[in-house]
Order: sequence, then C-alpha cells, then structure tokens
Amino acid sequence: MLQEKICLVTGSARGIGRATAIEMARQGAGAVAISDINEEGARETVELVKAEGADAEMFPCDMTEPTQVKDLIEATVQRFGGLDVLHNNAGVHESDFTTDLSVETLPEEIFDRIYRINLKGPWLAMKYAAPHLRRSTRGPSIVNAGSTGGVIGYPSMNAYGATKAGLIQLTRCVAVDLAPDVRVNAYTPASVDTPMVQKFTEAAQSAEQRHAIESSMVATHLIPRLGRPEEVAKLVCYLASDDAAWITGTVFGIDGGCLAWRGSNE
Ligand SMILES: NC(=O)c1ccc[n+]([C@@H]2O[C@H](COP(=O)([O-])OP(=O)(O)OC[C@H]3O[C@@H](n4cnc5c(N)ncnc54)[C@H](O)[C@@H]3O)[C@@H](O)[C@H]2O)c1
Repeated sequence: MLQEKICLVTGSARGIGRATAIEMARQGAGAVAISDINEEGARETVELVKAEGADAEMFPCDMTEPTQVKDLIEATVQRFGGLDVLHNNAGVHESDFTTDLSVETLPEEIFDRIYRINLKGPWLAMKYAAPHLRRSTRGPSIVNAGSTGGVIGYPSMNAYGATKAGLIQLTRCVAVDLAPDVRVNAYTPASVDTPMVQKFTEAAQSAEQRHAIESSMVATHLIPRLGRPEEVAKLVCYLASDDAAWITGTVFGIDGGCLAWRGSNE
C-alpha cells in the first residue's frame, strides 16, 4: 500500500502510465501528478485517479525539454507539498515515428529523439527530483520503466533497445548515488497490451495478418499472451511501497517468462 505517498507518473495519458496512476490511487496514494505531452489523455487520467479517491493534477511536459522536466518536478512539489515516488514511465519506440527501423535506415534525428525521451528525460527527472525525494519522510523511491528490449536483442529496435539498456544501468548507478535515502529500481516488461503494441495489430490488412502479428508478439512468452498494463502497475506500486523497503538497485522481470527462455512457441 502507498500510505498517502505523493507520486508522479510521467507519460501517464494512456497505457501502463495511466494504469499505474489509477493503481496508485487504489493503493492509498495521497496524490498522483499526471504528466504527458498528450494533455487530453492526461486530463482523462486525472479524472480516473480522482474517482479512486486520490488528489490528482495534470502537468503537461515534453520529456525532451530539460526546462519542462525541471518545472514538472517543481510544480508537483509546490502543488502537493513534496514528492515521495517518481515513476519514470514515458517512453517511445522507433515505430512511433518511422517505418525505417533498421540501423542502416533509421534517421539520426529519430535516434536522438528516442534517446532524449527514454534515457535523458528520466535522468533529468531523477536529477531534479532527488533533493525533494531525499527530504521525504514517506519511504521515497524511483521506479524506472525498462524493457526486455534493453536486455536482449530484437529486430527493428536499435535505438529503443540501447536506451532501455542505458536506463537499466542508470537505475543501478543512481541507486548507488542516492542510497540509503532513496530506493531506485527498474522493471523489464516483454510485450504488454497497450497502444504502443496495439498499433502493430491495428495496421494488419487481414485477420490472418493480425493473427500472425499477435502470435509473433507472444512467441517468446512462456505464458502465451500479452501482459496487461494493470499487472505492470501492481509491480510498480509494490516497488514504490514500503513492502519493498530493502529493495534497491534491482531490475525486476515482468515478461511472461520471456527472459527465462526466449524460445518460440510457433
Ligand atoms: N507496452 C509494452 O509492450 C512495453 C514493453 C516494455 C516496456 N514498455 C515501456 O513502458 C512504458 C510505457 O509504455 P506503454 O506501452 O504504456 O506506451 P504508450 O505508448 O501506450 O504510452 C507512452 C506514453 O508516453 C507519452 N510520451 C511520449 N513521448 C513523450 C514525451 N516526449 N514527453 C512526455 N510523454 C511522452 C505518450 O504520450 C504516452 O502517453 C514505456 O517506457 C515503454 O517503453 C512497454
């Protein structure tokens, strides 16, 4: 349980970020700051969080903009009176911007954009949140969204994979810097049923193609289905809770068994 903690979730207009913000409220968070570049979606999340009994407010922020990230942290602290939990959830994949996905064709500016959202953005957020988290008396922690793509190689995600691997290592390094005051952990989902993944099946031209795409996405999962955003949200809340008080600098798998085996069920 989150016992009145003040939480901030980046990229919470939809997907795992939204599910986590809602779960935080269900688990007793006092307030949840909702942040995204998608203001409309973020506003909807605010209402969903309030319906679960926590205070909430939207703070628009483009994670590629250092001043906006700094302002996001300061505005959250000012509005709610402190910060106890930072969930670095905002993240993007090559396919959000282009179909030229291999290392030979990916445009350099897309690589830079992915780096700024997936790795530098979380670094900035941790940098500016750290002094506030250190002052927290409610078991402060940071939870970072890694990916199995940051652990093993996949086709067509060289920028995504590299930045997620970087975030995993950044998690360990920041855990060392902030110990013992602030715990810092990451988790690594395989394919989870969110808009980031749904866009692949939605692009299918036929039922057969859709089935083939769905099968390929779960082929490496020992539990042969997509993960659910709510399942990831529960892990984030556990890591942010005092039940995880002796856990820091770790990387939790949440991948249906993918990394245990990484075989093919086809
Ligand atoms: N869905 C999966 O299969 C999966 C697997 C492993 C890891 N992850 C990670 O989990 C996190 C959430 O993924 P999701 O599936 O919910 O994705 P999603 O695409 O559904 O949501 C991502 C959110 O980030 C926001 N965002 C994008 N660019 C931003 C920016 N510049 N500044 C602020 N916000 C921005 C989007 O508007 C969106 O609301 C990501 O870091 C992703 O890499 C997802």
